[in-house]
Amino acid sequence: MKGIILAGGRGSRLYPLTAGASKQLLPVYNKPMIYYPLSMLMLAGIREVLIISTPEDLPSFERFLGDGSQWGLHFTYAEQSEPRGLAEAFLIGREFINGEPVCLVLGDNLFFGHSLVHLLRGAAALTEGAVVCAYRVSEPRRYGVIEFDDHGRALSIEEKPEHPRSSFAVPGIYFFDGRVSEFAATIKPSNRGELEITDLINSYLQRGQLRVEQLRRGIAWLDTGTHESLVQASNFVHIVEARQGLLIACPEELAYRLGYISKEQLLALVGRMAENEYSSYLRELAHEEIEPLF
Ligand code: TTP
Repeated sequence: MKGIILAGGRGSRLYPLTAGASKQLLPVYNKPMIYYPLSMLMLAGIREVLIISTPEDLPSFERFLGDGSQWGLHFTYAEQSEPRGLAEAFLIGREFINGEPVCLVLGDNLFFGHSLVHLLRGAAALTEGAVVCAYRVSEPRRYGVIEFDDHGRALSIEEKPEHPRSSFAVPGIYFFDGRVSEFAATIKPSNRGELEITDLINSYLQRGQLRVEQLRRGIAWLDTGTHESLVQASNFVHIVEARQGLLIACPEELAYRLGYISKEQLLALVGRMAENEYSSYLRELAHEEIEPLF
């Protein structure tokens, strides 16, 4: 499976933080925001990643992340000239996807919790249809909302409904089969002028090819689009990391634990970093006996 990180958008709710910098490069505690969705793709076992951003910000991502080989990954980059909606990712990424299954993750979504890796690996094994997640939230109106029947089968999905039919929102990670670009090409812009991912999900639902994985309460799904949610996400990462002494969403660590880079390569990366908490953490990791991730 391939992966796409959608890291464009206006970031208007985070103004003036986003006046001079891309939202997805802002810090969530001690790491740039994009590390969190990237780590989700890594945990899903995905190594080929397309990063989509605005024409202004794309060069910053390229400079910062390079071709991905430092982490045993392969990055390519593409522009979205205007924020015309999440589903446009599959039109921009058509050649990259090349008819293969793909996972889209939003550049400002953060997930953490028990059994997440298991869920990601299961969804990434998809060959036909689509997999999305459902997560109980207190304010469903702000999201795509999914309604279930008594057997837990999806009945409907609506974008930012005024009267939500359930409390289950669809978080910003989606898995689609190789037809996704074809289906995305048939979507018309919504009233707010966007190519809606909900319409794309609906086209799989109508065909009876949508699987919904419930993210239970033991998993945290945070988004970072407002000043308040950004500080909450930072506090969350700080608290968990300080308590456990383990970093959340550290690409070097994941690459090492996944066997994509050797101990020597990890130490070479550390050698190029300044002396700080991040490099000390990685140096210690290189000298530890590590358990396989799976
Ligand atoms: P949003 O949070 O919906 O939008 P935004 O980031 O532009 O912020 P604001 O509403 O404050 O103006 O977007 C969710 C994610 O998807 C975020 O990472 C930006 C990205 N995105 C795109 O890259 N292209 C798009 O066309 C849209 C709608 C979003």
